[in-house]
Amino acid sequence: MEAISKNFFLYLSNNKLLDRFAKRFGAKFGADKIVGGETFTHAIPIIQQLNHDGLEVTVDHLGEFVDCEEESRDRAGECIRTIQQIASGGLRSEVSLKLTSLGLDISRDLVIENLSLILKEAEKHEITVTIDMEDSSRCGETLDIYRELKEKYPNLGTVVQSYLYRSDEDLDALNDCDPYLRLVKGAYKESPKVAFSEKKLVDDNLKHLIKKNLLNGHYTAVASHDDRIVEYTKALAEEHSIPREQFEFQMLYGMRNQMQKDLVEEGYKVRVYLPYGEDWYGYFMRRLAERPANIAFAVKGIFSK
Ligand code: FDA
Repeated sequence: MEAISKNFFLYLSNNKLLDRFAKRFGAKFGADKIVGGETFTHAIPIIQQLNHDGLEVTVDHLGEFVDCEEESRDRAGECIRTIQQIASGGLRSEVSLKLTSLGLDISRDLVIENLSLILKEAEKHEITVTIDMEDSSRCGETLDIYRELKEKYPNLGTVVQSYLYRSDEDLDALNDCDPYLRLVKGAYKESPKVAFSEKKLVDDNLKHLIKKNLLNGHYTAVASHDDRIVEYTKALAEEHSIPREQFEFQMLYGMRNQMQKDLVEEGYKVRVYLPYGEDWYGYFMRRLAERPANIAFAVKGIFSK
């Protein structure tokens, strides 16, 4: 039953018609519980509150699969303005972005041009930018672009997904560029040709990648709401005397709020991923696919509006 519901919501996450319909309604149906508003201005008080609670933030201007050059340039401009507002507002926040929002599906030159402009601005303000990882068909090119720009911009991170068979080799290939990696399980619908379908194998591989990246001496963001992954990381750090400055936990806004605060109290660095923008539909559907309990607050959202 769980697998059917997961596939159903992942299928819906790609539906362009529903996406357009959702945009008209604004962030409703419970999406406002996990999205920080439609503009960065709406997100600012949320970031301030999270910072006040001891949490770091990474903001993501929602949007993906852009197929028009002008729109990709607009999106780069929005990222740059966000970076400027983070700096001028003294907010403790990084930035996350998706390469398909900057023109990955249009041309490599365009995405590199857009991303370079963002990274130049981020470098000025010492703000780290992390490239989210999208579906497996875009993984190789995303990592190539990451390697290329990481040489010039050390404040660049990316994501590796443990459900992909290729990820162990990707870690080896990235080893010499001192990567800043966020390690996750993976959120897209993938074929068994490229990804583990059994949850235990995905979880075991995430533990393996966390251990490998930390023991290779690289900064690691462990992005999971799973207690077992969090406990595993804590025990690993203890066992190998890995300093707390070498890793952080990351969780999505609105998920496991108490756990986020408990970890801060224990002295760990915790970063909250806060998406904002009108394009909330695909993000919201992927969250419903991950966790059937999220459907309850979506249903509540429908009837409370
Ligand atoms: P999973 O969903 O496997 O749940 C395991 C267990 O954790 C559950 O059984 C439950 O016990 C507990 N749990 C999980 N969520 C809970 C909740 N809300 N409340 C209570 N208990 C809960 N993906 C991707 O493909 N590309 C990307 O770039 C990113 N980026 C990203 C950034 C950040 C900061 C995060 C946290 C996640 C991502 N992801 C992602 C999503 C990621 O790949 C994955 O789909 C989700 O994090 C869900 O997997 P989990 O490891 O959180 O636990």
